[in-house]
Amino acid sequence: MKTYVVGNWKLNFNVGEASIYLHKLLKSLPNYRDVEIVVAPSTLALQPLSLQIDRHKMKLAAQNGFYRDYGAFTGEVSFSQLKGLVDYALIGHSERRYVLKEDDKMIQKKVAAALRNKIKPILCIGETESERAFGETADAIRDQLLGGLGEVSDDDLEKVIIAYEPVWAISSTKGAKMAAPDEIAGVVSLIRKILTETYGKESAKKVAVLFGGSVTPANAGAYLTIPGVNGVLVGGASLILREFIDIIDIAKRVQA
Ligand code: 13P
Repeated sequence: MKTYVVGNWKLNFNVGEASIYLHKLLKSLPNYRDVEIVVAPSTLALQPLSLQIDRHKMKLAAQNGFYRDYGAFTGEVSFSQLKGLVDYALIGHSERRYVLKEDDKMIQKKVAAALRNKIKPILCIGETESERAFGETADAIRDQLLGGLGEVSDDDLEKVIIAYEPVWAISSTKGAKMAAPDEIAGVVSLIRKILTETYGKESAKKVAVLFGGSVTPANAGAYLTIPGVNGVLVGGASLILREFIDIIDIAKRVQA
């Protein structure tokens, strides 16, 4: 399986800044066949960046998309409109769950809509600080995982990527803490167990599971070598070109 390095730019970079960053990144990237490099810019930047990108070197992801393909949904952008521009889409990011109040039902429909439009969903799941403190991590993970995958068939499962991002470890969260690799290993093995119970061993083992939450060049190696982890989802550090490239280099070394 490939190793994934996905940069989530969140609400940063205007179109010009995004284009300059991408230009510099493409210039410094060799063609890494075993590392899938993906960036998720703002929706506004996707069209120009899709013309600029070298898809042999890296891919684009949307940060979101709407679950209906067309209709009276003011302000939304559908996966059918994103089709052709992006290969991946983040769905159910904690900032959308907790700031924009998306629930598992909506996330489930978005995952199905992305697949219907040939876009690979990166389904983000993760417990909050209080769920962790009350010993509810396993329940939160199970609910979000099975909720998000509710409409995904056995055949489609391998097109879905799971990103485990404990909310308390995300750098924008107040008082964020670095997650200990041992703790992450436990949750990743739980995710794989739930996938195996639900879809069977053969389908489950084809699913890539990424880790996200304050990933930097200093800790990427430790996260990328956790058993069952196939990549990282990077926020803040992906905005700093040098750091993002360093993380890609670490992924390449781990993969080799
Ligand atoms: P940070 O890497 O800034 O903690 O963000 C993680 C994240 O939310 C990526 O989706």
